[in-house]
Amino acid sequence: MAERIGILTGGGDCPGLNAVIRAVVKSASRLGWETLGIHNGFEGLLEPVSYHRLDHREMGALLTSGGTVLGTTNRGRFSAKTGHGERNAIPREILDEAKRNFEALGLRALVCVGGDGSLSIAQQLFEHGVPVVGVPKTIDNDLEATVITFGFDSAVACATDALDRLHTTAASHNRVMVLEVMGRYAGWIACHAGIAGGGDIILIPEIPFSYDSICRKITEREAMGRLFTLVVVAEGARARGGDFVTQGATAADREARLGGIGSAVAGEIGRRTGKETRVVVLGHLQRGGGPTTFDRLLCTRFGARAVKLVQEQMYGYMVALRPPDTSAVKITDAIGRLRTVPVDGDIVQTAKMLGISFGDE
Ligand code: F6P
Repeated sequence: MAERIGILTGGGDCPGLNAVIRAVVKSASRLGWETLGIHNGFEGLLEPVSYHRLDHREMGALLTSGGTVLGTTNRGRFSAKTGHGERNAIPREILDEAKRNFEALGLRALVCVGGDGSLSIAQQLFEHGVPVVGVPKTIDNDLEATVITFGFDSAVACATDALDRLHTTAASHNRVMVLEVMGRYAGWIACHAGIAGGGDIILIPEIPFSYDSICRKITEREAMGRLFTLVVVAEGARARGGDFVTQGATAADREARLGGIGSAVAGEIGRRTGKETRVVVLGHLQRGGGPTTFDRLLCTRFGARAVKLVQEQMYGYMVALRPPDTSAVKITDAIGRLRTVPVDGDIVQTAKMLGISFGDE
């Protein structure tokens, strides 16, 4: 029997998952290895075990397609994350069962593609004796030890496109347009899209805002004859002294669902300035569809490097981008610490130089 490796995709989906799968399968097949695709994240390793063999000749369409052909989940018996910085220990019997089934499948190693939650599960499996290699995924870009995660560029492209569209309608109607973007407790998507899309005000979790400051910026623009304003709000942004805005009750085994701050901001701006204000919540559009050119390349590099790590038996390691090259970092160096936007860093400073407000001055 040929040597076999397994691959799974965990947590929320994002553009580029299929491109990683393709790169892993193609690279593995060149080493004479078979690849089994485990279904629905780590759940596929529990009874009833669910997987299929991935044929390297059928990978063509995966480079550009959205979603994941393996399915994924961010809930279930493997929930490793319940909140901001909180972490669950996976029950021993679940780890035992997954390890047993991993061995019964005759796998040499398991490539785990995921963000902080999934890589935290991968680390626990590794400590339990399963040889794992990680690939960093998340549109939020909030993982440590890599300069970028795949999926982020595609999400930023989507949000920037939305801003381009909002720009013309805002200008035609002299309105304030508020765009709420994802990113959880990090403002990477808001900052990158906000700058690239010509936003006037960017609100991020790292910089608590005040409504006085936001409205001052809008009135200053009015005084200069700029009668419309584009506001980009990260879903995790909050007013000074305020709390995160969430949707509905949070299940015990899940992270809080952020969302709704865009409406709150739009409502308050409308009340205070009297300007017509509209809100758009971009939501899961940022996670859907195919990857950008940048992400296709990154995913392909990550997938190929992950197979190399298996070949080198670098278990417990994750692929990372440390320009100009990909490299290997310990999974423990990437998880458990949220990578947020540095408030004194180049991105925020660039925005401030251009007169973009963060609602803090
Ligand atoms: O972590 C990716 C992400 O899209 C976050 O930006 C967002 O807060 C969350 O997942 C949404 O999760 P769900 O798909 O469960 O609504």
